[in-house]
Amino acid sequence: MTEKELNALLNDMSLEEKINQMVQLPGQIYASSAAVTGNIENNDVNHTIFYQAGSTLGIYGAEQLKKIQKEYMAKQPHHIPLLFMLDVIHGYETAFPCPLGLGASFDPESVKMCAEIAAKEAAVGGVHVTFSPMADLVRDARWGRVMESTGEDPYLNGKMAAAMVEGFQGNTRAEKGTVSSCIKHFAAYGAATAGLDYTNVELSEHTLREYYLGAYEKGIHAGCDMVMTSFNTWNGIPSTGNPWLMKQILRNEMGFDGVLISDWGAVGEMVNHGFCEDRKEAAEKALRAGVDIDMCSDCYADYLADLVREGVVEEKVIDEAVMRILKLKNKLGLFENPYRDADEEKEKTVLLCEEHRQFARKMVQKSVVLLKNERMEEGCLLPLDPTKKIAFIGPYIEGEDMRSSWVVTGSASNTISIRQAAKEVFFENQIRFAKGCTLLNNDTVLNGAQYHSDSWMEDNMRLEKEARQAAAWADIVVLCLGEHNHQSGEASSRTSITIPDIQQKLIASIYEVNQKIVTVLFNGRPLELDTVEAYSGAIVEAWMPGTEGGHGILDILTGACTPSAKLTMSFPYTVGQEPMSYNSYSSGRPKQTEGRADFTTRYLDCSNDPRYPFGYGLSYTRFSITEPELNQTRMGFNDQIIAQVRVKNVGERKGTEVIQLYIQDIAASCVRPVRELKGFCRVELEAGEERTVTFTITEPMLRFHCPDGSYKSESGRFRLWIGNSSVDGNAKEFWLEKGNRMTE
Ligand code: BGC
Repeated sequence: MTEKELNALLNDMSLEEKINQMVQLPGQIYASSAAVTGNIENNDVNHTIFYQAGSTLGIYGAEQLKKIQKEYMAKQPHHIPLLFMLDVIHGYETAFPCPLGLGASFDPESVKMCAEIAAKEAAVGGVHVTFSPMADLVRDARWGRVMESTGEDPYLNGKMAAAMVEGFQGNTRAEKGTVSSCIKHFAAYGAATAGLDYTNVELSEHTLREYYLGAYEKGIHAGCDMVMTSFNTWNGIPSTGNPWLMKQILRNEMGFDGVLISDWGAVGEMVNHGFCEDRKEAAEKALRAGVDIDMCSDCYADYLADLVREGVVEEKVIDEAVMRILKLKNKLGLFENPYRDADEEKEKTVLLCEEHRQFARKMVQKSVVLLKNERMEEGCLLPLDPTKKIAFIGPYIEGEDMRSSWVVTGSASNTISIRQAAKEVFFENQIRFAKGCTLLNNDTVLNGAQYHSDSWMEDNMRLEKEARQAAAWADIVVLCLGEHNHQSGEASSRTSITIPDIQQKLIASIYEVNQKIVTVLFNGRPLELDTVEAYSGAIVEAWMPGTEGGHGILDILTGACTPSAKLTMSFPYTVGQEPMSYNSYSSGRPKQTEGRADFTTRYLDCSNDPRYPFGYGLSYTRFSITEPELNQTRMGFNDQIIAQVRVKNVGERKGTEVIQLYIQDIAASCVRPVRELKGFCRVELEAGEERTVTFTITEPMLRFHCPDGSYKSESGRFRLWIGNSSVDGNAKEFWLEKGNRMTE
C-alpha cells in the first residue's frame, strides 16, 4: 500500500476499530495449542475484539495461522490482516544454544546466521514478528533470565543484538524467510534488584547510559521494527509508563520510529506497582509514554475510547500509534499477502532440515566453554582418549530437555542426546550409560510446577548403584549434570546457584569409585561450582545447547573440534559475590595483592575475583600472544593508533583463539571502568601457525557519558591490553592529546 492508501484507510476507521489495532490478545483465544508466557486475566473476549484486535502472540504453524487469518479477515471491517508474533529466542524448531551460549561464541556473524535460520523456519510457520533479541545487560546470576542475554558486556551485547536483528529481518521484510525483530526489554530489565524477577531497578542515569542502554541502541540502529517495554520500574517509574525513557531516550535520542509494544500485562501491572489508581489510568499513562500495543492487559481495549471521548487524550495520539502498526503490517507485505510465507508444504522441508541441524551443531561447538582441563599423570582428561572405556553418567545423558525453557515450538524428542551421539562415535563395548540420579531433588519448585517423582527414594538408590558400577568399570567418567531447563528463564530467580543437591551427592559418590571425572554442565546461568570443582579433572560448560546438543558436545569431548568459546558472564566463587562484572570501577582502597590487606576493599571470607572471569575459556591447544605494539603512543582527536600482536598456536592441534582488546581511561572527570572490551576477533590457527592481529584505536572508542551530560572523550592517559580474557594481556599506555575534534 502507498502512504496515501494507508492514510485513507486510517481515516476510514472508527475510533474503536483504531484502538483495537493497539490491542494484542493472547494466542489461547484463537487456538488451544498456544505457548503460554504470562497470565490471562480476562478470558471473556467479546466477538468484536476477537475479529479486530491488531495482533496476537504465542501461536504458530502454517495451517493453523492461515485458517485463523482467513476467518479473521473475512470479519474484520476493513479486512486488515492480523499480526502473528512469537518468542523465537534461540531457534524455532531447530534450537540453537541459549543466548548466553551464543554470546560465548564471540562470533556475531554466526549468531546472525542462527537468527536467519530461525526466521526462515518461523516465517514458513506463519510467524510475522519475533520478540527477540533480548539486549538486556546482566550481572546477577541469581536472575533466571541471564540465560536469554548475551552477558555482562555492553560492547559485545551491542554486536550480538545488531547481528540478531539483521539475521531475523534480512535486508527488507519483502524478502521471503524474514520476520520483524523486537528489541527488549526497554530498559534495564537485567538489573532487577537482587536478581529477583519483576522487581524494581536501582541505577543512576549515568550507569543506565554507560552500561545498559548501548546494546538496545545498537539493535535499534540495525533497524529493528519493534521495541518492547520492560516490567521493572526505574527511578520509581514503571518503564511502560515512563515518557522520559520512551519518548526522550528511545524516540528522540535513539531515533526509533517503529512500533513500541508493552511486555505481557505490563500496562495493567502499573496498578500493582502503585503507579496508577486503576486500569483506566494505566491505559492513559501507557499511551502518554508512547506505548503503541498493549500486550494482553486489555487496558487499551477497555478504556482508551472513553479517554478520548472524555477529552483526556487526543485522538491524534491514537492515530499516530495506529499508523505505526499499519505501517509495520504494510512493511511485512500483509495487505498484499496476509498469509505471507506460511506454507504447510515448506514446513516439511525447511523445519529441522539437515542444513539447519548442521549449523546448530557448529554453534554448539562454538558456544561450549572449556573451564578446566587439569593435567593428570597420563595427561589431560580431554579430549577423550579413544582407546579408553568411558561411562556417561548423569541425568543429562538423555531424556532431559536441553533446549531451554524459551523454545516454545518443536519437540524435545528431536534433540540429539548425549547417549545417541556417544553411540555414533564409540564402539558399543567401550561405553556404558547410567542416569545416576533424578535431575532435581523431589521438593524443587519450578515456575508453574512442582517437580515430583513418586518412586523418588527407591529410584535414586538404584540409579546411584548402577552409576557406581558403570564408573568402576570405566577408565574415565563423563558426568552430565546441571540445572533443570526451567530453573533458569523467566520467573526463575534463585538464591542458590549450585547444581541440585542430589547431583552434588552423585558426583561425590562417583568419585569414590573413579577419580577421572569430566563434568559437562547444562545450565542457563553462571553457577557456584565448589563441588563440581572438587571432584572434576575437567569441566565443560555446555549451557542449554539446543537440538544438536549431543552431537556438538561429543565433537568437543572427542576433540573432533577444539573448544574456542569464552565466558560472557563472570562465574563467582560464591553467590554472595553477586552481582559482579569485570568492567567495574576501582575502589579508593583497592585490594592489595601483597602484604596486609586491612582496611582495603575485600571480602574477609572470599576472593574479590570471580572463579572464572569474563572472556575466559580454555582450548586443547595453546596460544602465545606477544606484547602489543603501537605504531604511535600519542594520538589527536581525528587520529588513530594501530595496535598489533602476534598470535601463535604453540600447541599440537588446530584451534581458534578469541583475541580481546580492552582499554582503560586512567583518569577522567568521572571514574572509568578498570577495563572495557573495545574489540575482539576469532583467529583460527593450525599448529605452529602464527598471525598478526590488528586493532585500530580511534577517538570515538574512548567516549563516555560525562558528568555534564555530554558524551565525549577526554584527553589524557589510557591503558590497553590485548589478550585472551579480561584478566589477561600485557598493558601498554597511550595518550589522547588535547586538540580539536572533527565533529566539533
Ligand atoms: C516476557 C517477554 C516475552 C513476552 C511474550 C513476557 O512474559 O517477559 O520476554 O516476549 O512474555 O511471550
